[in-house]
Amino acid sequence: HDNLVVLGIETSCDDTAAAVVKSNGEILSQVVSSQAELLAKYGGVAPKMAEEAHSLVIDQVVQETLDKANLTERDLSAVAVTIGPGLSLCLRVGVRKARKIAGCFNLPIIGIHHMEAHALVARLMERDLQFPFMALLISGGHNLLILARDLGQYIQLGTTIDDAIGEAYDKSAKWLGLDLRRSGGPAIEELAREGDAQSIKFSIPMKQHKDCNFSYAGLKTQVRLAIESQKINAEIPISSASTQDRSSRADIAASFQRVAVLHLEERCERAIQWAKKMEPSLKYMVVSGGVASNQYVRTQLDQVVKRSNLQLVCPPPSLCTDNGVMVAWTGIEHFRMGRFDPPPPADEPEDFV
Ligand code: KG4
Ligand code: ZN
Repeated sequence: HDNLVVLGIETSCDDTAAAVVKSNGEILSQVVSSQAELLAKYGGVAPKMAEEAHSLVIDQVVQETLDKANLTERDLSAVAVTIGPGLSLCLRVGVRKARKIAGCFNLPIIGIHHMEAHALVARLMERDLQFPFMALLISGGHNLLILARDLGQYIQLGTTIDDAIGEAYDKSAKWLGLDLRRSGGPAIEELAREGDAQSIKFSIPMKQHKDCNFSYAGLKTQVRLAIESQKINAEIPISSASTQDRSSRADIAASFQRVAVLHLEERCERAIQWAKKMEPSLKYMVVSGGVASNQYVRTQLDQVVKRSNLQLVCPPPSLCTDNGVMVAWTGIEHFRMGRFDPPPPADEPEDFV
C-alpha cells in the first residue's frame, strides 16, 4: 500500500471540495469551490440551496481536480468521500458522485467521518505525529476535544452542550454587519485587530463546571445584548459605518474573540491533564477545523500546549477549513488498514443514494 493514489470528495457543508493525495503524503491537486458568496446573500446555510449549489459544481470540481493532477479515474486506487456528519442533502451529492466514479472504474470506496478527517490531516503535515495524540476540533458545527489512541480509537473528552465556536463567530459577524462573503470567522478576526479586547467584560462560559465541555450559546447572547445596548445597526454595513461606530464594533469583536478563545484555553488545559493520566507518553496536540485557521486562536493555544510540555500541530489554514485533502488522506489511512468497501455496481441508479 505504498503507492496509493486516492481521490477525496467533501460536500458536507457549504464548500464543494476535492483532492488527489498519494500515500507518501504528496498532494497532487486540490480544488475548493465555496458557496460563501451565495450564502451571504441569504444570511446563512439553507440546505436545499446548498444542495443545488453542490450539484451544480460537483462534476466540474472533480474533473478539475483530476486534470490538475494530470490523472484520469483509471490512475486512482480508491475514492474517499465524507459520509457525515453534515447536511444530509449535501452529503448525498458527494456520495452519489463518489459511487458513480467507483462503480464505473471498479474502485474501492471509503466512507469518511468529517471530524476524523479534520484530525488526521495533521498526520499528513507532521509525519512524526504518531498515536496517541490529542485533538481540539473547532468548526462551524462542532467543538470536540478527543484523545486519539489509534486509528478509529477516539475517546471524547469534551464536546459542546449547545453551539460550536464557529457558529458564535458567524452570528457575531452577522450582527455586527460584517462582510460575510468569505465567512464570519475571518471577518471577526480582522476587525478584532482594531479593537480593545478588554473593553467589554463578557463572562467566560461554564467557569463553574470543572469538565472539558463547551458552551457558546450564552456568549452569543452576550454579544447580541452588547450590540443592542450600543445601538449598532447591522443594516449599516461596516464599510459605511462612522469612525465611532466602527471602533465600537471592533471593541465587541475583540472582546468576544478574547473570551471565546479563553474558553478554549481553559478546556484544553484540563483535557491535557486528563489525557496525560490515560496516556503518559502523550507528546502532541492537534488543533484543526475552520476556526483553527485563526491566528489569534493558534497563538493562544500554542502557549497552553507549550505550558503543558506538548507540541502543537496545526495544519495550514487551507487544510483547517473544509477541504478534499483531509478526506483523501483519511481514506489512505483507512485503506492501508483494510477498511474500505468494494466497488459499487457500475449500473447503480443515480437515486440509489
Ligand atoms: O471546518 P469548517 O470549514 O466547516 C465546518 O465543518 O463547519 O469550519 C467553518 C467555520 C465557520 O464557522 C467559520 O466562520 C470558521 O470556521 N472560521 C473561522 C476562521 N476561518 C473560518 N473562525 C475564526 N477565525 C477564522 N479565521
Ligand atoms: Zn469542517
